[in-house]
Amino acid sequence: MGKVLIAYYSRNGHTESMANYIAEGVRIKGCEAEVKPISEIKNEKDLEGYDAYIFGCPTYHRDMTANMKSFLFLAEKANLEGKPGGAFGSYTHSGDAPLEIYETMEYVFKMKVTSLGSFRMKEADIENNIKSCQDYGGVICEMIG
Ligand SMILES: Cc1cc2nc3c(=O)[nH]c(=O)nc-3n(C[C@H](O)[C@H](O)[C@H](O)COP(=O)(O)O)c2cc1C
Repeated sequence: MGKVLIAYYSRNGHTESMANYIAEGVRIKGCEAEVKPISEIKNEKDLEGYDAYIFGCPTYHRDMTANMKSFLFLAEKANLEGKPGGAFGSYTHSGDAPLEIYETMEYVFKMKVTSLGSFRMKEADIENNIKSCQDYGGVICEMIG
């Protein structure tokens, strides 16, 4: 059974909700999912032992959050090359963060990012689009060989 890490930051809980729905989709497709705030990931060893990675954070000030930037520097040391990956986050109007994370996964970490691209959702729409979140997680599970 493939194991997927969903690592996220959420200030007000919306991105956290998305993380949990994405995890549901991972499990529906038969993979194991672990959902962790990035604050619990202390070093690159904490990223070992997973077959795929989904990272998420909301957009603040048209950017990913500072702690997500630090987390990505940590993840750089974990050698995620070739691993399936995706990125997500909640937003209200510009929603830049998921694509920024996704591009780091693709171009810097050289991960096998999902062809779905990054996944962002307006915070007001999340509870009415649970299935979209689940589907995104399901696709990442299916990418595990
Ligand atoms: C100070 C501040 C700045 C924000 N800047 C942006 C922004 O630039 N673009 C955007 O789409 N949303 C912006 N937002 C909205 C948040 O991304 C949105 O509320 C999101 O759902 C928060 O996710 P969270 O509950 O996981 O923290 C901003 C919110 C605050 C409070």
